Amino acid sequence: MDNNRVYVFDTTLRDGEQVPGCQLTTVEKIIVAKELEALGVDVIEAGFPISSPGDFQSVVEISKAVSEPVICALTRANTADIDAAASALQYAKRKRIHTGIGSSDMHIKYKFNSTREAILERAKEAVKYARKFVDDVEFYAEDAGRADNEYLARMVEAVIAAGATVVNIPDTNGYCLPEQYGAKIKYLMDNVSNIDKAIISVHCHNDLGLATANTIAGVINGARQVECTINGIGERAGNTSLEEVAMILKTHHALGYTTGINSKKIYEISNLVSNMMRMPVQPNKAIVGRNAFAHSSGIHQDGVLKHRENYEILNPEDIGLQSNSIILTARSGRHALKHHLERLGYKIDKINLDEVYTRFLEMADSKKEITDHDLQTLMGDGNKDH
Ligand code: KIV
Ligand code: ZN
Repeated sequence: MDNNRVYVFDTTLRDGEQVPGCQLTTVEKIIVAKELEALGVDVIEAGFPISSPGDFQSVVEISKAVSEPVICALTRANTADIDAAASALQYAKRKRIHTGIGSSDMHIKYKFNSTREAILERAKEAVKYARKFVDDVEFYAEDAGRADNEYLARMVEAVIAAGATVVNIPDTNGYCLPEQYGAKIKYLMDNVSNIDKAIISVHCHNDLGLATANTIAGVINGARQVECTINGIGERAGNTSLEEVAMILKTHHALGYTTGINSKKIYEISNLVSNMMRMPVQPNKAIVGRNAFAHSSGIHQDGVLKHRENYEILNPEDIGLQSNSIILTARSGRHALKHHLERLGYKIDKINLDEVYTRFLEMADSKKEITDHDLQTLMGDGNKDH
């Protein structure tokens, strides 16, 4: 096994789809699942089968439609949930049951009205029961971000001994700082005696805007599965965004981590998910936002036109975009204006750039952005090089 291979577990169709207004039909979920397969994810969390007949059916149909990735179904730590998941996964070529229970004292007391010891028993029983149906069982220690590390280590050791193949350490409430979350993963790597028998997975929420940073801290400290969603959609402020993690690991290739993601598919699937879920991507979103490769100030435009890498650490082509863009606004300089005029076919050497630039600024001051049509109006057809 390649020790630096990071497995990508996509939960767009489960944690992502839980967002109000983002519900998809089974047919739409199959389309997304096939695109996730083409993207190269290792695991697709297809749903939470006991939650509704529709979710159950979606897991059944995705299991039939997709063959490469492992298909995973979520459960709570009880037999009815696990029975439903096993039944929904019956057609999957490669299947995983994802079961789990709260691990923080907050959840143990106020969610389950229980004790650490009783919860530990339920965790072990759930894993053992799930193993009766599938060879691949992932256990999630919900709210692990706020759990006591010593207790968490006991829980992780116990569920691995019970047969868990993957153990998920969720920062369910997006509470941790990267240093804390990284240290938590390291603590488990150093203190769980059977840790080599399972893969540690990181599942981070973005309540403080730290989901991606925490995920990377987890990987650096030994986790080898990352749980993410396309565009970072998910409960409240969302989950770790798949495209951010994939491009961080690609950009920082010197760290040595690899994934199976075909990054050239990122832009396409981001649009697909955004349109289908009617969930717009914020313009300044890293990697896939409309402005992620758009340069608008004169200093940056001049720099990028001289050498792309002056202001770009990523290649737009790497995520499937044709090129970057130089946006013309009142903050643009002569270099950007000349670039666009030449692109439109104007003989820039025959015109007085200073004079056009003065008129351009007058126009740009009254508009948010200057379009090709505006430039044509500025120049008049007579000067165009056809
Ligand atoms: O955030 C979380 O803890 C979860 C679990 C159900 C895996 O989504
Ligand atoms: Zn979650």
